[in-house]
Amino acid sequence: MRPNILVAIICISVITLCISCSSVFLGANAEPTTAILGAFHKEVMMLEEQLTDKQQQQIEGMRFVTGKLKGKSVVVAWTGIGKVNAAMTTTLLIEHFRPSEIIFSGIAGGVNPKLAPGDIVIAAETAHHDMGILQEDGFYNRGVINPLDGFRNPVFLPADKRLLKLAEKAAEQVELEKIKTTVGERSPKIIKGIIVTGDVFVASPAKCKELRDMLNADAVEMEGAAVAQICYQRRIPHLVVRSISDKADKTARMDSMMFQEMAAKNSAALIAKITELLSSDLPVEKATKK
Ligand code: ADE
Repeated sequence: MRPNILVAIICISVITLCISCSSVFLGANAEPTTAILGAFHKEVMMLEEQLTDKQQQQIEGMRFVTGKLKGKSVVVAWTGIGKVNAAMTTTLLIEHFRPSEIIFSGIAGGVNPKLAPGDIVIAAETAHHDMGILQEDGFYNRGVINPLDGFRNPVFLPADKRLLKLAEKAAEQVELEKIKTTVGERSPKIIKGIIVTGDVFVASPAKCKELRDMLNADAVEMEGAAVAQICYQRRIPHLVVRSISDKADKTARMDSMMFQEMAAKNSAALIAKITELLSSDLPVEKATKK
């Protein structure tokens, strides 16, 4: 082989090695990313609009937007409605972005009679309300076996303690718009509570009573516990935040149309504040079993 060809081969090999080493090196040192999910576009639109260094990509047909929110690296996506869509998007997101935590933002039906449209529930726990055993004497909520470790999941999936604390701090600091009612204006309430999830839009006072009696639910929606279950099984810290769009009663469908924008905005405002606090916060703890 002529010496100049040999030199060229060596140069190309060294350059290739440098490029692969630098990508491994950069990957190892990349800033941890926080994933922010919503079920439909309106639920994450307000957060997406605030991103800087915004970049979009399609993975398996789903759209993921990366960028910086309040100085923090985030990836934002909407999952589609229901537990299967939420699980599909969450899994894709985990495999491609390896987020350090996952936060879900959106709207919900209020089951706790003290809640009204615009109020916010920070889920200390989420539960599937449609997962369990149906016997002759009634329905019993029960978690499924986690295929990753063979242990049964709890009915109530706990939120990450650190994210919960940050959310409570954010709740004290966030400025939400006042809600106009027929008798004047009121400030939205923010509570820590239980959010239940099922593949059904609830517009039934009887179902509301059942969810309250059986699971002590404050709000009902269609994705939270699916995301929480994946995070629990994969040991990824998570948090679900929902703002009330309706009271899951006879007028729920109409109310949800009317109040979804305001509710989505309130939930997104709290998420933005949580993200801001995340940048200046304690080190990440792994999600723990209860
Ligand atoms: N999301 C918003 N309102 C809801 C309801 N009433 N039931 C289920 N999911 C909801």
